[in-house]
Amino acid sequence: MGDKIKKLYEKRESLVPNALGVFNPSTASKAKGSIIWDVEGRELIDFAGGIGVMNSGHNPEPVVKAIQKQAENLIHTCFNVSMTEEYLDLADKLVSLFPLGRETKVMLTNSGAESVENAIKIARMATGKQGIIAFTGAFHGRTMMAMTLTSKTKYKTGCGPFAPEVYRLEYPYYFRYGNGLSEKEYINQQIQKLKDFFLYQVSGDQIAAVILELVQGEGGFTVMPPKYLKALQKLCKENGILIIVDEVQSGFGRTGKWASYEHYDITPDIVTLAKSMGGGMPIGAVIGKAEIMDAAYAGTIGGTYPGNPVCCAASLANIEYMEFVNINALGEYIGEIVQNRFEYFKEKFEAVTDVRGLGAMLAIELSIQNDPAKPDTELAANLIKVCEQKGLIIISAGTFGNCIRILSPLTISEKLLNKGLDILEEALTELTK
Ligand SMILES: Cc1ncc(COP(=O)(O)O)c(C=O)c1O
Repeated sequence: MGDKIKKLYEKRESLVPNALGVFNPSTASKAKGSIIWDVEGRELIDFAGGIGVMNSGHNPEPVVKAIQKQAENLIHTCFNVSMTEEYLDLADKLVSLFPLGRETKVMLTNSGAESVENAIKIARMATGKQGIIAFTGAFHGRTMMAMTLTSKTKYKTGCGPFAPEVYRLEYPYYFRYGNGLSEKEYINQQIQKLKDFFLYQVSGDQIAAVILELVQGEGGFTVMPPKYLKALQKLCKENGILIIVDEVQSGFGRTGKWASYEHYDITPDIVTLAKSMGGGMPIGAVIGKAEIMDAAYAGTIGGTYPGNPVCCAASLANIEYMEFVNINALGEYIGEIVQNRFEYFKEKFEAVTDVRGLGAMLAIELSIQNDPAKPDTELAANLIKVCEQKGLIIISAGTFGNCIRILSPLTISEKLLNKGLDILEEALTELTK
């Protein structure tokens, strides 16, 4: 770490609250594609993508141009005050990519957490019920309702009281909690627990919605087993419970599809989006079946900035660019390369105990002595530091912080991807000697 970076860290310490985490020690002054230049001009390969925001890469030319053009014309009005075409054009595009039943409607937001907040409000108004079910391992953001829904207690310490009427179900996490059962036996056991939940915890007729990630992001890239989802869908249908799928991290090609739910036999009632939707600009969306979206009472949803024209123009250009480069095919392609290398890591390193995910949303889980019950959080933290020194930005995931996840741009070249994976392998070799 050079003098300039040291000075920046000192400045940060004096100005910014310590609680704002340092997920990676890197700095950034410029970026293009899958490369970030730090403030001292060092090149770093980006496997974090600003936490899953840069699926289309840093600064794609059409996005930069759209931002410049829009900024020259009109920066802000507030959609409720003076309607803009950019909002509607983006909504139209989102409906075409994420059709939910016969008719679909869209409200734009500024972030993932705001999408989640609004999805919950809408689900409550649409059903006239209050209860919300979220899962262990879930991460839905840091606003008050989103934080309530978030499971990791370390992210919530001292922030309560939390929102009432939120219930928690166990997310099927076979690797960690399989306890010697076969995967099939474990999933059947979880389905039984799910049924029991409605007998012992809360009755289904009190529940407005279940919110879930089909591939948990912060939770460590655990993937929802289709059989469990089927059982959940059945119970939701029987009890008039809406299904909200949170695609904030998993959307826009990350799993090889526009949304992870496309891997399953499901049409969600509501979908939350953000991150890679905006190519780096702060924008998100709640998308829902029209009859559900229209059940919200006037004045209950909205805000000053949602659908800001510059963000809308950027997002639309970004989505069109993703269509142009065929982001879903890239997601599959990157996924295959990473999956193969991760499987090799699992054979080579005792510490790499699980490889999981969907498409290019892939992670390795690190454990001590090959024991799923002994998460190796320290190794993950050291890997992040050593990789950064060697020119690679990676971040961790998981309740125990012992998973290393890949959220690189999907437009990354094979050469650069392999170079990044080589660095990860080198760091694993050094740290597990
Ligand atoms: C699945 C999921 N939902 C919601 C959020 C919150 O998004 P934001 O940080 O934009 O508020 C995140 C952020 O990581 C996420 O991964």
